[in-house]
Amino acid sequence: MKLLVGYATTEGQSRKIARHVADRLADAGHMVELLSLTDGEGLALDRFDRAVLVASIHAGQYRKELTSFAQDNALWLRRQPVLFLSVSLAAAGHESEDWRGLDRIVEDFAEVTGWTPDRAEQVAGAYRPSEYDLFKRFIMRRIIATKDPGADLDTDREYTDWPALDALVDDWIVG
Ligand SMILES: Cc1cc2nc3c(=O)[nH]c(=O)nc-3n(C[C@H](O)[C@H](O)[C@H](O)COP(=O)(O)O)c2cc1C
Repeated sequence: MKLLVGYATTEGQSRKIARHVADRLADAGHMVELLSLTDGEGLALDRFDRAVLVASIHAGQYRKELTSFAQDNALWLRRQPVLFLSVSLAAAGHESEDWRGLDRIVEDFAEVTGWTPDRAEQVAGAYRPSEYDLFKRFIMRRIIATKDPGADLDTDREYTDWPALDALVDDWIVG
């Protein structure tokens, strides 16, 4: 199969996840194109059988390039099997209010773009103080201190569950 793995990232975790997924699909014998959605304008999607889209949440929203890509390609995305991986820190926890918030973000995204992902999965991202400016550092330290009281606030930390992600991708590709 020929697959597109597209990503929209701010601090790099969605790119890392997209690369990981692309490698796994390539190892399984598929032809894979990995693309930053900042370069997605005008892409001819007809040559792909399926797509994986990976995008992170910042302040309750996905990046603009994902929204534009989904709006421009809504027809194709509705027709073909697509795995949408939504990357956030809320997905690292178990608070039902946070998870309802994540569902709402996907619903709002679907309304704005005209594309409701047939398979949307929440994936835990990363805390990366090394990538934050002072303002982001201040906000994120407060969030992490409440959500993960044991965390070292000065050190980058990945919450992504790689084996669970592999299982998810393996399940989707055979479906
Ligand atoms: C300024 C800022 C705002 C964020 N807002 C949210 C949010 O609203 N909900 C959430 O669950 N995670 C939020 N996060 C966490 C990111 O989704 C998480 O760090 C993710 O791994 C970022 O992925 P990226 O590196 O691909 O951009 C935020 C992170 C930053 C730095």
